Amino acid sequence: MPKPAYISEILSGRYSNEEVFIRGWLHNKRSSGGIHFLIVRDGTGVIQCTMKKDKVDSSVFEEAKKLTLESTLELMGVVREDKRAPGGYEVHVSDLRVINRAKDGFPIAKKYHGPDFLLDNRHLWIRSQKMQRILRIRAEFLKAAREWLDENGFTEFHAPTLITAACEGGATLFSVRYFDKTAYLTQSWQLYAEAAIASLGKIYTIAPSFRAEKSKTRRHLTEFWHLEVEVPWCDLEGIMKIEEELLFHVIRRLCEKPSTIRDLEALGRSPSDLLKAEPPFPRITYDEAVEILNRDGIKFEWGNDLGWIEEKHLTLKFDKPFFVTHYPRRAKAFYHKPDPNRPEVTLSADLLAPEGYGEITGGGQRIDDENELLERIKENNLNPNDYEWYIDLRRWGSVPHAGFGLGVERTIMWICKLSHIRDAIAFPRLLNRVYP
Ligand code: 4AD
Ligand code: MG
Repeated sequence: MPKPAYISEILSGRYSNEEVFIRGWLHNKRSSGGIHFLIVRDGTGVIQCTMKKDKVDSSVFEEAKKLTLESTLELMGVVREDKRAPGGYEVHVSDLRVINRAKDGFPIAKKYHGPDFLLDNRHLWIRSQKMQRILRIRAEFLKAAREWLDENGFTEFHAPTLITAACEGGATLFSVRYFDKTAYLTQSWQLYAEAAIASLGKIYTIAPSFRAEKSKTRRHLTEFWHLEVEVPWCDLEGIMKIEEELLFHVIRRLCEKPSTIRDLEALGRSPSDLLKAEPPFPRITYDEAVEILNRDGIKFEWGNDLGWIEEKHLTLKFDKPFFVTHYPRRAKAFYHKPDPNRPEVTLSADLLAPEGYGEITGGGQRIDDENELLERIKENNLNPNDYEWYIDLRRWGSVPHAGFGLGVERTIMWICKLSHIRDAIAFPRLLNRVYP
């Protein structure tokens, strides 16, 4: 029995001229005269397997001829280097065993399908080359982020998903029946993270957040993955430094691995564009952003939050991510610390990705004083009773602290140059979609 081999290992040249045994799905197939070209996929890669009529039993050759796309197979054969084969190697098949013959007519054909069809068939569409590439990059992204956080002394911490009080305002809370009470799905780990820094110091999480976003846009999901960081003894400038270093570390990792470079390039993203994101990232204030908008003829009133149109306009002026800082207090959630030198703005920062992508992180310095927090809670028409434990944190060992949340799909969307956020996650949850 030959060695079981993964396709990625074969494509790396490790089994040249050796006999191997591979298992996978029939990704594609064509025949010409006495040869079948079976394109096989195993989750690590895709390889061409050629079967010559005179090299296998006639029953095997006939079975291969009738084989349906997405059938599962075990194949045996010898690996040969071949410049003409995609990937540079192919397997010369000596035997084939069909494990599961797929039904005829795999719904995803080699033709144009509309987005709704592909979303309805998402369970099958995630097998496509495009989705494989994005999902691999996403996995590499999170691996590299964890690596940087772990190496820099951050501890992973988990906050609850079922919560009782809004972090980002009530409008986008999903409510859940919790026995005889109402609970909500979390929008952010932040309030709990602010409690946990007094236990663990610098912390992070990578977890889903939920927003009942009623808007149908290219950048909103109702369930998204949130990479969040919270740091004691940290101010606005300190948290921006962490953001830019973390992001650049991840980008460097993605752009040094040959298989990831291939995935990025196949998606139309050139690694050299990403590598422009070397710290320090430019910083502009909200005031400067408003000035730019007004100068360029975009009507925008000071005090409002920047929307998609404004962000898009600003991002076209940069070729790397940049921070917008000091948003007005009215545009930001209650926990943002007002600037002591100018209390109408907050010590906040959003990180915007270039090329029209816009906001990928939101964060800043938190209020650490009890009275200031109470004032902001009232100003936002929130009920202090709902936040009693959170206010308590300002009574028992309060410290200056800061944090941020990075939208994983927003960031993957930019990194992979995607036109819609739905493709940055395997099974997107959208305004009109929770199936499959
Ligand atoms: O700006 P947001 O609302 O900030 C917070 O939730 C803070 N509590 C985070 C923190 O400081 N720990 O959300 C953070 C990021 C946004 O910049 C965006 O990238 C992403 O989360 N995000 C979404 N991504 C996809 N779909 C949505 N509906 C999103 N809402 C926010
Ligand atoms: Mg935000």
